[in-house]
Amino acid sequence: MRTRRTLTALVAGLAASSLLLAACSSNDPETPSGTGGAGGDDASEVEVFTWWASGSEKLGLDALVQVFEEQHPDTKFVNGAIAGGAGSAAKELLQSRLQAQDPPDTFQAHAGAELTDYINAGQLEDVSNLYDEFGLRDAFPKDLVDRLTVDGKIYSVPSNIHRANVVWANPSVLEDAGLDPKATYATLDDWFTALDKVKASGKTALSIATTWTQVHLFETVLLSSLGTDKYNGLWDGSTDWAGADVTKALENFEKLMSYTNTDRDGLDWPDATQQVIDGKAGFNVMGDWAEAAFQEAKKQAPADYIYFPVPGTDGVFDFLADSFTLPVGSKHPGGTKNWLNTISSLDGQIAFNKAKGSIPARKDAQPSEFSAYQQSAMESFGQDTIVSSLAHGAAAPVATLNAISEAVSKFTTGAGDLATFQSDLVAANAG
Ligand code: GAL
Repeated sequence: MRTRRTLTALVAGLAASSLLLAACSSNDPETPSGTGGAGGDDASEVEVFTWWASGSEKLGLDALVQVFEEQHPDTKFVNGAIAGGAGSAAKELLQSRLQAQDPPDTFQAHAGAELTDYINAGQLEDVSNLYDEFGLRDAFPKDLVDRLTVDGKIYSVPSNIHRANVVWANPSVLEDAGLDPKATYATLDDWFTALDKVKASGKTALSIATTWTQVHLFETVLLSSLGTDKYNGLWDGSTDWAGADVTKALENFEKLMSYTNTDRDGLDWPDATQQVIDGKAGFNVMGDWAEAAFQEAKKQAPADYIYFPVPGTDGVFDFLADSFTLPVGSKHPGGTKNWLNTISSLDGQIAFNKAKGSIPARKDAQPSEFSAYQQSAMESFGQDTIVSSLAHGAAAPVATLNAISEAVSKFTTGAGDLATFQSDLVAANAG
């Protein structure tokens, strides 16, 4: 189901990233050569730093921890989760801990440009020997493994693959607004007509939350408006941020924001998705961790909720992967290795992804284990064009994402007009 074309596109999109895919093994791994650090191969505990602190994300982490405790009963799991969707609070704290040489034993990062930042800063150990030890080269497609290796080294282990360009909708709200829940929208213009109807019915047409969710929406609007080649060109310098086609995308984003709830900046993603679950909003654009929120609320598709690619992005899989690391200076590298072992094991990936809404990175998990949405995501991942997510670390370095986020926030809080927004984006991408 994962075609060579898809994998090649994926790794091409990830350029210099270090996505590492690991396999299951019930044996405790040995210390990777050259790690050592203060903790030697201490496996007494592992502090796992994530932003999966509550709700459906915590349930995902809990599912993983349950498998970890079965597989590695002698390693104590220490939860270092810091609340805030997309790592909005966690990433800053992580930076200060890394600077102070007080890293957690492992931290959640995104495969792609974000991980390259940590590699370039010398903050990550090479874990490619675990790759051999766990049998990863058999568990994962060879071309993917080869292409994701950076200078012969691999620096992280992905637990999952998420899709970012998904619209979630409440069919009852749509029907009440005079819309057919089965309708599809080929373009953003088609979708605007539907959003107008939901707005006219008195409901929030498009629910959204704080800045990072606005950046998430923005990335999907760029993708829809520009198409995949020009979207990819934004990250390799071949698309001009000052161009007329980007202006058109910004106009589309401005229009979409006009359909959103005004209390957005005080909310995080679960609040915005909950508005669709509760029938207070018609649509929400969110990564497929939202699937876990619908599952947690015991909702069934398509009776209670529907989903489709952001209009204009059908056939494109906007990709991100959560990926765990062995930081330089980990106090319990043996514990870290046990964690990496579990998150890459078949049992770990099945348990975690069932609860998280994402799909396993491994090729041996059976689609029938997963929800209808997840099965559709697996199919799309196998046949769609893959592009890298901006808001979730795959497309651009952290500094660029931060600068784009500031520009988006300035614009959506009314502190600048569209022309200023575009020039801020040009500046954000010039560095
Ligand atoms: C992403 C992460 C997902 C999910 C989401 C919302 O960055 O990759 O796993 O946690 O943030 O918090």
